Amino acid sequence: MKVQLKIPATTANLGPGFDTLGLALNIANYLEVETIADGLEISVFGQGEQELSQDHNNLVYQGIEYVFRKLKKDVPGLKITQRNEIPLSRGLGSSAAAIVGGLVAANELLGRPLTINQLLDTACQIEGHPDNVAPALLGGLVVSCLDNNQVKYCNIKPAKPLDVVVVIPDFKLSTQATRAILPEKVDFSAATYNASRVGLLVGSFYTGDYSLLKAACKDRLHQNYRAKLIPGFNAVLDAAIEANGLAAALSGAGPSVVAFTTDDPEKLGRAMQQAFAEHQINSDFVITNINNQGIEVLDSTI
Ligand code: HSE
Repeated sequence: MKVQLKIPATTANLGPGFDTLGLALNIANYLEVETIADGLEISVFGQGEQELSQDHNNLVYQGIEYVFRKLKKDVPGLKITQRNEIPLSRGLGSSAAAIVGGLVAANELLGRPLTINQLLDTACQIEGHPDNVAPALLGGLVVSCLDNNQVKYCNIKPAKPLDVVVVIPDFKLSTQATRAILPEKVDFSAATYNASRVGLLVGSFYTGDYSLLKAACKDRLHQNYRAKLIPGFNAVLDAAIEANGLAAALSGAGPSVVAFTTDDPEKLGRAMQQAFAEHQINSDFVITNINNQGIEVLDSTI
């Protein structure tokens, strides 16, 4: 039995929507999982080929194992091949893609016993928050929250196309470190500031009125704290707006920065890259757009 999957990268938070908003992007990891007589063989190509575990600690394997054990099935021998485009620890949902890929692969191999909602709940239990795993599974923009241990979500396919530019600095940040730097308490005014912008941001994607994004993507809950770990972060946001970006925000927990445009994405990427360079940070940029499919089963022989 063999299953081939394509799993999109995701950008979470989008500024104000800490742990609640996520958008799927057309940058992808490709995963092939095949049952074999016994044992575990893992190969990784592309992003993470030097770093990702190729044993039972591999996150894709752990997702597969989780589903088999949850359904009280024996884990078969497995050959796992990962071809990864999503950079690791840069705020683009590489761990969410691995978890979702593992869960969906196992679900396919077992004849789809779990629903999408069960897969999402399980992915959220493993990842800890739903904002990357939900769009990796569903595509588009996902607004989600955890309510009584269940992920409640609304999946919006943005009304109009938009170019997305992601500037990826050449250093990594662990989500653990970028969450540890956040305060325990925030001002009532900061909470109100963000709550109102989350509503506006969702409305902007739903209606396609992207002129709202500049105000909607601002944040007072997490970016300023995390900026201490990302030299030039605020200059990069400013450079994005000066280069005709509609809005820019930290991508997930960073260090990548995501910007939106309907104008000239190349110019936008270069301007943001230059702003990082002025703070002695090397970076690459990727021009992409919104992925509306979510995870795709490319082939399945069960
Ligand atoms: N919402 C998460 C955070 C995304 O900002 O920490 C990163 O996993």
